[in-house]
Amino acid sequence: MIPLRLGVMVSGRGSNLAAIMKEINEGRLSATVALVVSDNPAAPALHHLAEANIPSLVIERRLFADDIAFEDTIVAAMTAHQVDLVVLAGFMRLLGPGFIEAFDGRIINIHPSLLPSFPGLRAQKQALDYGVKVTGCTVHFVNERMDAGRIIAQAVVPIQPNDDEETLSARILAEEHRLLPQVIGWINEAVQMPLSTH
Ligand code: GRF
Repeated sequence: MIPLRLGVMVSGRGSNLAAIMKEINEGRLSATVALVVSDNPAAPALHHLAEANIPSLVIERRLFADDIAFEDTIVAAMTAHQVDLVVLAGFMRLLGPGFIEAFDGRIINIHPSLLPSFPGLRAQKQALDYGVKVTGCTVHFVNERMDAGRIIAQAVVPIQPNDDEETLSARILAEEHRLLPQVIGWINEAVQMPLSTH
């Protein structure tokens, strides 16, 4: 199988990026992290990438006149690294139409709730505050609206009576680390499948 070339976009901790790298390194996922882009120079996600031989770029919004110039720079970097699939793994900005069009149908995001419930920030706290009994995580295609693109896969996490934001987030995160690499694997299989002739 030809490894899918991933462009992973991050803003913070990078545990989903680490989960993807682990699946690749241990031979369970046929993919290559072709480029990591962070909009945050202090993102812990950037640690250890050089020693893993993974190219990374910090591209900060504040250094550009507008969103378009910022996003064009990321698109150019992804294109230069021959990225097939853009993976938003804790990237904290909404992408504009130019970016979406450049990678139409080839951008996925992981979100820590069962969308369409609880989009946006602190989705785990939103679920606890609402009092739902199950929540989870969602991998979806990205469009211009926040956490609103077509859903690819979800994993359910029951809420325990004594859960707080931290304990619930940790159990959801374990599912994220399983689900996101799994979906990348499915996409890779789908793009390699010969099309029917009728
Ligand atoms: C995850 O909970 C993900 O669902 C959300 O942001 C968080 C990123 O975590 N979009 P990490 O940076 O991958 O550790």
